[in-house]
Amino acid sequence: MESKEVRDKFLAFFKAREHTAVPSASLVPENDPSVLFTTAGMQQFKPYYVGAKKADQDFDSLNAVSVQKCVRTSDIDEIGDDTHLTFFEMLGNFSFGGYWKEEAIKYAYEFITRELGLIIDYVSVFRDEASGIPADTESADIWHRLDPTLKIKEHNKDDNFWGPTGEEGPCGPTTEIYINGVEVWNIVFNEYYKSRDGNYEPLKTKGIDTGMGLERLLVQIQNKNNVFETDLFEPVIEQIKSLSKNYDSKSARIVADHLRTAIFMIADSVTPSNTDRGYILRRLLRRAVRFADKLALSVGSLTDLVEVVENIYDQIYPELKTENSKLKTEIQNEESKFRETLAKGLKEFEKGIDPFILFTTYGFPFELTRELAAEQGKNVDEADFKTKLGDHQSRSRSNAEQKFTGGLADHSEVVIKYHTATHLLNQALHEVLGEGVEQRGSNITAERLRFDFSHGAKLTDEEKQKIEQIVNEKIEANLPVNFVILSKVEAEKTGARHLFDEKYGDEVKVYYIGESLNTAYSKEFCGGPHVEHTGVLGTFKIIKEEAVAAGIRRIKAVLQ
Ligand code: GLY
Repeated sequence: MESKEVRDKFLAFFKAREHTAVPSASLVPENDPSVLFTTAGMQQFKPYYVGAKKADQDFDSLNAVSVQKCVRTSDIDEIGDDTHLTFFEMLGNFSFGGYWKEEAIKYAYEFITRELGLIIDYVSVFRDEASGIPADTESADIWHRLDPTLKIKEHNKDDNFWGPTGEEGPCGPTTEIYINGVEVWNIVFNEYYKSRDGNYEPLKTKGIDTGMGLERLLVQIQNKNNVFETDLFEPVIEQIKSLSKNYDSKSARIVADHLRTAIFMIADSVTPSNTDRGYILRRLLRRAVRFADKLALSVGSLTDLVEVVENIYDQIYPELKTENSKLKTEIQNEESKFRETLAKGLKEFEKGIDPFILFTTYGFPFELTRELAAEQGKNVDEADFKTKLGDHQSRSRSNAEQKFTGGLADHSEVVIKYHTATHLLNQALHEVLGEGVEQRGSNITAERLRFDFSHGAKLTDEEKQKIEQIVNEKIEANLPVNFVILSKVEAEKTGARHLFDEKYGDEVKVYYIGESLNTAYSKEFCGGPHVEHTGVLGTFKIIKEEAVAAGIRRIKAVLQ
């Protein structure tokens, strides 16, 4: 049975049992700041579990069924084994105060054994005296009545309790179905709401939430050894094999997994960057490039594999084909940027291996430095890296505090002008030097602005002139400066610049320079204040450019 038929069968089975089929939500969750990506089918339904929305007003019934695109990157180091993936589709049936354990277990049993003809190895139910949450004897009874020969195991809270996604939300004990020793279906009984302070409050309306990973299920249905042999991966692996001059299956699996995830992320409008979602995408693509190199695929091969992935999902996610040119451009650009950074970083690497400098200046994830060092038979000190990173994060935080509160205590007119000029400079630096630039500090007096940023080389005269020219053009254009107050999630969606490792409040001010937020030249999370129009700034001039630490440059500039 092919994957398409399995999806169709699943949806049809539950539609015939009063479930409304709901399309997959985007990988970028809407109105849910608790997670960066959609990690489970239940996520789009959270408001129904907590009673904030009424299911029967939005659907024809109290039940829903979906095939949800999901991303989970917490197990990224496991990719390459037989079962782990960073992207997967999750088959799920849900009830928001409709049916409860009896039906949920019966449906799952029927679907697995009758519709798919699979043999259940064993099932697990929740029991954990120490947790203070009652053991689930009801589920054990239901399973036993359905099939008295079935093996039932009792698992504790670590294994048989699900959620919440993020710090708070609906959650509850689970019962899980195992086939050939692999967990394929997780049936969650959402009975609690875990609050931020760690309490489990009973939910007014109990709900059912189930999740069955399509790829893992296909391994069983298609009688394969691992997810990469199923019809959702086999064509990509074959293509990699035929292009590779140095084939090894683990690297091929990593390339296939990471590339597929990147494709789905980009199709859902994520772009590579140094923050949040964009950073996860960047990391996946950069790892894919590294492993493509290990396989001796030629430069640009990732882009050639895009079509193979698109063809697999032709009838299910046609948007991949529609977005073909965007997918290729983003992947191509990121590969080129990474190769440039890699070349520069490798020079630094030759001078001495400092994972912290390589991370902050060249964006090398720690594991990349570790791998490169291992290739030369050398070790790197992870504890030292973590200490330096911790210091660096608290430094950035105090920079941020300075930037958003006290740094601008002096609101004299000239200081405000320098503040707006700093935003223009920040944007111009990105334009001229690339997105690898990250703000590292900012200080303003009535005489000048000072701006520290990550960059691996001394600025050339040409680069300095170009930066000055851009800032002065923006000043001459007399652009309006305005702000909006948005929830942190909405603010991030605007693409506004902010400090990567800074913790912001739930609501942030986004200052933008330009006619509208969408078309603005510069956007930053910032407390202000700023000038109303850039025309009042005068002429911007860089008076000094120097290094302050390895990989950190400092610009001093004046307004004349
Ligand atoms: N929400 C159930 C699961 O993800 O397993």
